[in-house]
Amino acid sequence: MITPVVLIPGDGIGPEVTASMCEVLRAGGARVSWVEACAGLDAVERFSDPLPAATLDLARRYRVALKGPCTTPVGKGFRSINVRMRQELALYASVRPVQSLPAVKVPYNHVDLVVVRENTEGLYSGQEHFVVPGVVESLRIITRGACERIVRYAFELARHGGRRRVTFCHKAEVMPLSDGLFLETARAVADDYPFLEFEEIPVDKLCMQLALDPTRYDVLVMENLFGDVLSDLCAGLVGGLGLVPGANIGARYAVFEAVHGSAPDIAGKGLANPIALIRSAAMMLEHIGQRDVARRIETSVRRTLESGLGLTRDLGGEGNTATLTERLIANLAGD
Ligand code: NAI
Repeated sequence: MITPVVLIPGDGIGPEVTASMCEVLRAGGARVSWVEACAGLDAVERFSDPLPAATLDLARRYRVALKGPCTTPVGKGFRSINVRMRQELALYASVRPVQSLPAVKVPYNHVDLVVVRENTEGLYSGQEHFVVPGVVESLRIITRGACERIVRYAFELARHGGRRRVTFCHKAEVMPLSDGLFLETARAVADDYPFLEFEEIPVDKLCMQLALDPTRYDVLVMENLFGDVLSDLCAGLVGGLGLVPGANIGARYAVFEAVHGSAPDIAGKGLANPIALIRSAAMMLEHIGQRDVARRIETSVRRTLESGLGLTRDLGGEGNTATLTERLIANLAGD
């Protein structure tokens, strides 16, 4: 069965990494047909909106989308495309698997954790106003329903992924009402999973522990702003944003995306590393039941990094998008 998937190439390096990803998926035998939609700078020019209604309609119709990076124009009054898309499609869980990769020089080996971030509320609820000139209030919205949903998601992910521990991160000492509610809800959800370990840790302490020894963590779950910061921090532990995949999951829809930006400094030069988008596509394939192809692609990424051939400059190589794509396709063979 061929599954239609909405493809949003984005802008900047987006079209370059998307073209590479499509080649690798085709060579890997992915059973998908792409339904192209636009967002980002291209959409601003054509529709005066970086996230047109037509793109959201396609995502709703086909339920699954894969998105390249999109520039958010600064100072033009546009809200972040990503934040808007997550809210419009109720993509409540951001999921970022972070694993050590072969031959990537970082201070840690054997990192294997997943950051699960609440994606729809907290300080990203978009509720900011001037109280009086010179004083601004940003509302940090925390609701029991959203807390329960995200913590349960983390536990289910742990259960189905064969993981053992869920770590809930908070700052309840300083925000006893909002994070107090989150913590109390997390404890109640944890009671439903006595076969999994549950631990709670303040966000500052977690940052220090991650810097000292990230290998002791398994599934991390947290609110929106902490998650935004910690998911990039964790990506840095294994080699950076060019390597780490990401997904935004809701009850009805799912959008998979490379978590790096549109990299205007290298856009159009053929230098972009497509691995993050390719691994996000592998997560998408798992999601739609094509685990065989997803595994083949992940194996190829590992083989390619191990070989050190054709790698882009951000990975310490002297190659470019085309050479890396070639190697990734060659390394699909034999599986
Ligand atoms: P960025 O991630 O685009 O770039 C940061 C640095 O990493 C740059 O030096 C860039 O060349 C490098 N880089 C990023 N991805 C790379 C890749 N795949 N291969 C090789 N090098 C790579 O972050 P920046 O500069 O803060 O943001 C640029 C634009 O992207 C902004 O408009 C921002 O709003 C947008 N953005 C979009 C995101 C998305 O659509 N998911 C996420 C983050 C930023």
